[in-house]
Amino acid sequence: MRRRGADFRRPVRRRVQDVAWWTLCSVVALLFIYILVTTTKGSNTNSTTSMPPFSLRNFRNERIMESLNITEEMLSPDSVARQLNDQISLAKAFVVIAKESNNLQLALSLTSQIQNLQILLSNAATRRAPLTIMESEKAIHDMASLLYQAQQLHYDTAGMIMRQKAKIESLEEQMNYVNEKSSKYGQVAAEEVPKSLYCLGVQLTSKWLNNLDLQNKLKDKLQSDMKLRDNNLYHFCVFSDNILATSVAINSTAQNSKNPDRIVFHIVTDEISYAVMKAWFALNDFRGVTVEVQKYEDFDWLNASYAPVLKQLQDSEIQSYYFRGSKDDGSTPIKFRNPKYLSMLNHLRFYIPEVFPDLKRVVFLDDDVVVQKDLSKLFSIDLNENVNGAVETCMETFHRYHKYLNYSHPLIRAHFDPDACGWAFGMNVFDLVQWRKMNVTGIYHYWQEKNIDRTLWKLGTLPPGLLTFYGLTEPLDPSWHVLGFGYTSVDPVLIENGAVLHFNGNSKPWLKIGMEKYKPLWEKYMDYSHPLLQQCNFH
Ligand SMILES: *[C@@H]1O[C@H](CO)[C@@H](O)[C@H](O)[C@H]1NC(C)=O
Ligand SMILES: *[C@@H]1O[C@H](CO)[C@@H](O)[C@H](O)[C@H]1NC(C)=O
Ligand SMILES: *[C@@H]1O[C@H](CO)[C@@H](O)[C@H](O)[C@H]1NC(C)=O
Ligand SMILES: *[C@@H]1O[C@H](CO)[C@@H](O)[C@H](O)[C@H]1NC(C)=O
Ligand SMILES: *[C@@H]1O[C@H](CO)[C@@H](O)[C@H](O)[C@H]1NC(C)=O
Ligand SMILES: *[C@@H]1O[C@H](CO)[C@@H](O)[C@H](O)[C@H]1NC(C)=O
Repeated sequence: MRRRGADFRRPVRRRVQDVAWWTLCSVVALLFIYILVTTTKGSNTNSTTSMPPFSLRNFRNERIMESLNITEEMLSPDSVARQLNDQISLAKAFVVIAKESNNLQLALSLTSQIQNLQILLSNAATRRAPLTIMESEKAIHDMASLLYQAQQLHYDTAGMIMRQKAKIESLEEQMNYVNEKSSKYGQVAAEEVPKSLYCLGVQLTSKWLNNLDLQNKLKDKLQSDMKLRDNNLYHFCVFSDNILATSVAINSTAQNSKNPDRIVFHIVTDEISYAVMKAWFALNDFRGVTVEVQKYEDFDWLNASYAPVLKQLQDSEIQSYYFRGSKDDGSTPIKFRNPKYLSMLNHLRFYIPEVFPDLKRVVFLDDDVVVQKDLSKLFSIDLNENVNGAVETCMETFHRYHKYLNYSHPLIRAHFDPDACGWAFGMNVFDLVQWRKMNVTGIYHYWQEKNIDRTLWKLGTLPPGLLTFYGLTEPLDPSWHVLGFGYTSVDPVLIENGAVLHFNGNSKPWLKIGMEKYKPLWEKYMDYSHPLLQQCNFH
């Protein structure tokens, strides 16, 4: 397995034996950013259960101080929970890659081992005491040996970066917003919630599997199968593996709707979160809103021969670019290598007509939004034959095309006005009839393939979105979609009038590092007194 050195600009590559390195690498990287020291610690190759060799305690005392209430456990470099979390994220990434490579056996073993680790985390969250090495050792070893197998199959580079996606994203945000509160805490603080999330996941999954009534209940609900296709209703889609976020997006839409019975939510998640989502939305009613849950692994059409993103995920040169930064003298800033957007749930937004072949108009919501108004008007807004209704972002700031795309490239220069106004993903009205008619997925594939060498754009789903929907985007009134709740201060008038508030940025409201002043906007729609949430020690 390879690792990236602490200084991302001058990657050091080294053979190491074990998975614990990922923990070390990311902690080193975080420390590096936080403390802005130039020294890096020496390497230390040790057993699977070994821990980073340096202490976070000074860091805590000097940097985080009084305002942060984080459990001792999470601050401790010896946190077993953190190690389990790291293994889980890495394993989740390998599941995707193993499946794409048709190694179903490995995918299955990984999935079941992920569940074992989640059960351990769940137990710890329920009893509110840290995990001990003793009780976790076997599971950690078993997982390590599976991960080792995956690594032998040369999935290692891809897996590494997928696992690190959250951390790299967090680094990126920290670099962008060093002065924001979020930058002080970073991932350390962010990790307390996942333990509770895993607990919730395990509880819900076992409820689901052991409770036929519940399964039947959902089936009954979906007898309204007709509703899923009825184009007179209001169809929303959310692509997410985060149960809390999805629940709030749906609940807030429902609470503020004048006709909740006309609302249909279509969730697409991954294999691992599938039962969790099913159980949660069968157990809870959101004012009669219809909720459908699918997993993208079930979409046969979504395969490497069709979707360039999946093909690129398998391409070793791409992997090494995104995941390791080789063939790169370090001139590309780390944020441009962010692998987040190689995640399939992220790219699913380009396949909405394929996901919902019967639908004509869909409102796409990111999972980190909260809805404050009735959204039914979005379904009658005239898009003037455009495909994408979106809020433009060039008014307040300078988010024009030249900011996102490489205008030295002749293809870009020839096709796109550099001063064209950018727009935001997160609350988009998509006209699927026009989409199919104009073959917009084909346009997306064209650009995604042209960017194989990453000279058109570096990062994200927004640049390919800007290319794909160029000339096909209808600007919406800005109050439909207000951005910035995850990293900046927002004008109170905009908050008051906003229909959809978007917590884009690192300070997600479900994390400790969420911005306190904006958390209530979101928490209002989260029932923390729910027995399951109580049991899992949320808040
Ligand atoms: C590995 O860690 C153990 C204690 O956790 C220590 O005794 C041992 O010397 C370490 N081995 C190496 C190679 O650093
Ligand atoms: C942390 O928060 C919990 C409850 O939110 C509280 O009981 C505890 O006293 C806090 N600890 C510190 C050190 O502030
Ligand atoms: C891959 O997807 C294409 C179209 O999306 C489909 O025709 C083909 O059968 C799929 N291949 C597999 C192996 O499922
Ligand atoms: C922009 O495109 C040009 C022309 O293809 C290419 O030489 C250059 O490397 C690209 N810039 C970046 C930052 O990729
Ligand atoms: C859509 O575009 C793709 C790529 O440009 C092309 O291969 C495909 O045949 C087109 N489909 C239709 C229905 O025109
Ligand atoms: C949904 O939101 C309402 C009101 O804001 C809240 O009372 C309720 O508990 C929430 N439901 C769930 C399941 O979180």
